[in-house]
Amino acid sequence: MKTIAVFASGSGSNFQAMIDAVQNGDLCAKLALLICDKPSAQAIDRAKEAGIHSFIFNPKDYRFKEDYEKEILCELKNIGADLLVLAGYMRLIGPTLLAEYQGRIVNIHPSLLPAFPGKDAIGQALEANVKQSGVTIHFVDEGMDTGPIIVQESVTIDESETKDSLQRKIQTIEHRLYPAVLKMLLARGEVTSGKKTRAY
Ligand code: GRF
Repeated sequence: MKTIAVFASGSGSNFQAMIDAVQNGDLCAKLALLICDKPSAQAIDRAKEAGIHSFIFNPKDYRFKEDYEKEILCELKNIGADLLVLAGYMRLIGPTLLAEYQGRIVNIHPSLLPAFPGKDAIGQALEANVKQSGVTIHFVDEGMDTGPIIVQESVTIDESETKDSLQRKIQTIEHRLYPAVLKMLLARGEVTSGKKTRAY
Protein backbone atom coordinates (compact mmCIF):
# COMPACT_ATOMS: atom_id res chain seq x y z
CA MET A 1 0.00 0.00 0.00
CA LYS A 2 1.29 3.48 -0.86
CA THR A 3 1.92 6.11 1.78
CA ILE A 4 0.57 9.65 1.56
CA ALA A 5 1.57 12.75 3.51
CA VAL A 6 -0.91 15.62 3.49
CA PHE A 7 0.11 19.28 3.86
CA ALA A 8 -2.56 21.66 5.19
CA SER A 9 -2.77 25.07 6.87
CA GLY A 10 -6.48 25.48 7.56
CA SER A 11 -9.77 23.74 8.10
CA GLY A 12 -8.65 20.56 6.35
CA SER A 13 -11.99 19.65 4.80
CA ASN A 14 -10.14 18.13 1.82
CA PHE A 15 -7.94 16.21 4.24
CA GLN A 16 -11.13 14.95 5.90
CA ALA A 17 -12.48 13.83 2.51
CA MET A 18 -9.32 11.73 2.08
CA ILE A 19 -9.63 10.29 5.60
CA ASP A 20 -13.25 9.35 4.83
CA ALA A 21 -12.32 7.83 1.46
CA VAL A 22 -9.67 5.66 3.12
CA GLN A 23 -12.01 4.66 5.94
CA ASN A 24 -14.83 3.66 3.61
CA GLY A 25 -12.53 1.76 1.26
CA ASP A 26 -12.73 4.11 -1.73
CA LEU A 27 -9.05 5.01 -1.50
CA CYS A 28 -6.53 2.30 -0.80
CA ALA A 29 -3.59 4.17 0.72
CA LYS A 30 -2.00 4.85 4.08
CA LEU A 31 -2.56 8.44 5.22
CA ALA A 32 0.45 8.47 7.48
CA LEU A 33 1.25 12.08 8.23
CA LEU A 34 -0.15 15.60 8.37
CA ILE A 35 2.31 18.45 7.87
CA CYS A 36 0.87 21.70 9.23
CA ASP A 37 2.38 25.17 9.53
CA LYS A 38 -0.45 26.61 11.67
CA PRO A 39 -0.58 25.29 15.23
CA SER A 40 -4.25 26.37 15.52
CA ALA A 41 -5.47 24.72 12.31
CA GLN A 42 -8.55 22.53 12.46
CA ALA A 43 -6.75 20.03 10.22
CA ILE A 44 -4.71 19.02 13.31
CA ASP A 45 -7.88 18.01 15.19
CA ARG A 46 -8.97 15.96 12.20
CA ALA A 47 -5.61 14.16 12.18
CA LYS A 48 -5.87 13.43 15.93
CA GLU A 49 -9.38 12.12 15.54
CA ALA A 50 -8.25 9.77 12.76
CA GLY A 51 -5.11 8.68 14.62
CA ILE A 52 -2.77 10.27 12.07
CA HIS A 53 0.56 11.64 13.25
CA SER A 54 1.06 15.41 12.77
CA PHE A 55 4.25 17.36 12.27
CA ILE A 56 3.35 20.90 13.33
CA PHE A 57 5.77 23.76 12.92
CA ASN A 58 5.75 27.54 13.04
CA PRO A 59 7.75 29.02 10.14
CA LYS A 60 8.58 32.03 12.34
CA ASP A 61 10.77 29.75 14.46
CA TYR A 62 13.11 29.17 11.51
CA ARG A 63 15.46 31.49 9.71
CA PHE A 64 15.05 29.97 6.25
CA LYS A 65 12.49 27.81 4.43
CA GLU A 66 15.31 25.30 3.90
CA ASP A 67 15.57 24.81 7.68
CA TYR A 68 11.99 23.68 8.21
CA GLU A 69 11.83 21.81 4.91
CA LYS A 70 14.84 19.73 6.06
CA GLU A 71 12.84 18.72 9.13
CA ILE A 72 9.80 17.94 6.98
CA LEU A 73 12.03 15.83 4.74
CA CYS A 74 13.14 13.76 7.76
CA GLU A 75 9.49 13.16 8.69
CA LEU A 76 8.66 12.16 5.12
CA LYS A 77 11.60 9.75 4.98
CA ASN A 78 10.57 8.24 8.33
CA ILE A 79 7.17 7.25 6.98
CA GLY A 80 8.47 6.38 3.49
CA ALA A 81 6.11 8.87 1.81
CA ASP A 82 5.27 8.00 -1.80
CA LEU A 83 3.04 10.97 -2.56
CA LEU A 84 2.79 14.47 -1.05
CA VAL A 85 -0.69 15.97 -1.19
CA LEU A 86 -1.17 19.70 -0.64
CA ALA A 87 -4.67 20.57 0.59
CA GLY A 88 -4.89 24.23 1.53
CA TYR A 89 -1.18 24.47 2.40
CA MET A 90 -0.51 28.19 2.17
CA ARG A 91 3.22 28.05 1.34
CA LEU A 92 5.32 27.48 -1.74
CA ILE A 93 7.24 24.21 -1.75
CA GLY A 94 10.97 25.00 -1.81
CA PRO A 95 13.95 23.39 -3.53
CA THR A 96 14.70 21.07 -0.56
CA LEU A 97 11.42 19.18 -0.98
CA LEU A 98 11.22 19.58 -4.77
CA ALA A 99 14.66 17.99 -5.23
CA GLU A 100 13.38 14.79 -3.59
CA TYR A 101 9.72 14.71 -4.55
CA GLN A 102 9.01 16.71 -7.71
CA GLY A 103 6.64 14.63 -9.80
CA ARG A 104 5.12 13.17 -6.64
CA ILE A 105 3.61 16.37 -5.19
CA VAL A 106 0.06 17.40 -6.07
CA ASN A 107 -2.03 20.44 -5.18
CA ILE A 108 -5.67 21.45 -5.45
CA HIS A 109 -6.64 25.00 -6.38
CA PRO A 110 -10.13 26.57 -6.43
CA SER A 111 -10.07 28.01 -9.95
CA LEU A 112 -9.54 26.91 -13.53
CA LEU A 113 -5.82 27.53 -13.70
CA PRO A 114 -4.03 29.38 -15.19
CA ALA A 115 -6.86 31.79 -14.28
CA PHE A 116 -6.73 33.23 -10.76
CA PRO A 117 -3.63 31.69 -9.18
CA GLY A 118 -2.56 32.56 -5.63
CA LYS A 119 -4.67 33.64 -2.71
CA ASP A 120 -8.45 34.14 -2.75
CA ALA A 121 -9.06 32.53 -6.14
CA ILE A 122 -12.80 32.50 -5.44
CA GLY A 123 -12.87 36.24 -4.67
CA GLN A 124 -10.74 36.91 -7.76
CA ALA A 125 -13.20 35.02 -9.99
CA LEU A 126 -16.18 36.96 -8.62
CA GLU A 127 -14.33 40.24 -8.95
CA ALA A 128 -13.51 39.45 -12.59
CA ASN A 129 -17.20 38.73 -13.23
CA VAL A 130 -16.51 35.49 -15.09
CA LYS A 131 -19.34 33.08 -15.78
CA GLN A 132 -17.38 29.95 -14.95
CA SER A 133 -14.76 28.92 -12.47
CA GLY A 134 -13.83 25.55 -11.04
CA VAL A 135 -11.23 23.29 -9.53
CA THR A 136 -7.76 22.33 -10.74
CA ILE A 137 -5.59 19.49 -9.46
CA HIS A 138 -2.00 19.79 -10.65
CA PHE A 139 1.55 18.70 -10.03
CA VAL A 140 3.62 21.12 -8.01
CA ASP A 141 6.66 22.91 -9.35
CA GLU A 142 8.58 25.92 -8.03
CA GLY A 143 5.93 28.42 -9.11
CA MET A 144 2.69 29.48 -7.49
CA ASP A 145 -0.07 27.20 -8.87
CA THR A 146 1.87 26.73 -12.11
CA GLY A 147 2.68 22.99 -12.39
CA PRO A 148 1.33 20.57 -15.03
CA ILE A 149 -2.45 20.13 -14.79
CA ILE A 150 -3.85 16.67 -14.03
CA VAL A 151 -7.58 17.40 -14.06
CA GLN A 152 -10.04 20.31 -14.02
CA GLU A 153 -13.75 20.53 -13.35
CA SER A 154 -15.82 23.65 -13.92
CA VAL A 155 -18.75 25.26 -12.12
CA THR A 156 -21.18 27.84 -13.40
CA ILE A 157 -21.23 31.15 -11.55
CA ASP A 158 -24.82 32.33 -11.18
CA GLU A 159 -25.99 35.96 -11.24
CA SER A 160 -26.74 35.84 -7.52
CA GLU A 161 -23.52 34.03 -6.58
CA THR A 162 -21.80 35.02 -3.35
CA LYS A 163 -18.37 34.09 -2.10
CA ASP A 164 -19.91 31.61 0.34
CA SER A 165 -22.14 29.95 -2.23
CA LEU A 166 -19.32 29.64 -4.78
CA GLN A 167 -17.00 28.25 -2.13
CA ARG A 168 -19.62 25.63 -1.21
CA LYS A 169 -20.02 24.59 -4.87
CA ILE A 170 -16.26 24.38 -5.32
CA GLN A 171 -15.64 22.43 -2.13
CA THR A 172 -18.34 19.90 -3.01
CA ILE A 173 -16.40 19.18 -6.21
CA GLU A 174 -13.05 19.15 -4.39
CA HIS A 175 -14.14 16.60 -1.80
CA ARG A 176 -15.22 14.17 -4.52
CA LEU A 177 -12.45 14.91 -7.03
CA TYR A 178 -9.32 14.89 -4.86
CA PRO A 179 -9.67 11.36 -3.43
CA ALA A 180 -10.63 10.09 -6.92
CA VAL A 181 -7.54 11.66 -8.50
CA LEU A 182 -5.27 10.27 -5.78
CA LYS A 183 -6.74 6.85 -6.42
CA MET A 184 -6.03 7.23 -10.13
CA LEU A 185 -2.43 8.39 -9.58
CA LEU A 186 -1.69 5.55 -7.18
CA ALA A 187 -3.25 3.00 -9.54
CA ARG A 188 -1.11 4.26 -12.41
CA GLY A 189 2.03 3.48 -10.42
CA GLU A 190 3.87 6.27 -12.13
CA VAL A 191 3.42 9.98 -12.47
CA THR A 192 5.03 12.44 -14.82
CA SER A 193 5.40 16.02 -13.74
CA GLY A 194 6.67 17.21 -17.07
CA LYS A 195 10.16 17.36 -15.64
CA LYS A 196 10.66 14.11 -13.82
CA THR A 197 9.00 10.73 -13.97
CA ARG A 198 8.86 8.79 -10.75
CA ALA A 199 7.76 5.22 -10.30
CA TYR A 200 6.18 4.20 -7.04
C1 GRF B 1 -9.40 24.47 -0.91
O1 GRF B 1 -10.47 25.18 -1.47
C2 GRF B 1 -8.28 24.31 -1.87
O2 GRF B 1 -8.68 24.38 -3.19
C3 GRF B 1 -7.38 25.48 -1.56
O3 GRF B 1 -7.51 25.70 -0.19
C4 GRF B 1 -8.78 25.22 0.25
C5 GRF B 1 -8.51 24.34 1.42
O4 GRF B 1 -9.69 24.01 2.09
N1 GRF B 1 -6.02 25.22 -1.98
P1 GRF B 1 -9.68 22.94 3.25
O5 GRF B 1 -8.64 23.37 4.28
O6 GRF B 1 -9.35 21.61 2.64
O7 GRF B 1 -11.06 22.99 3.83
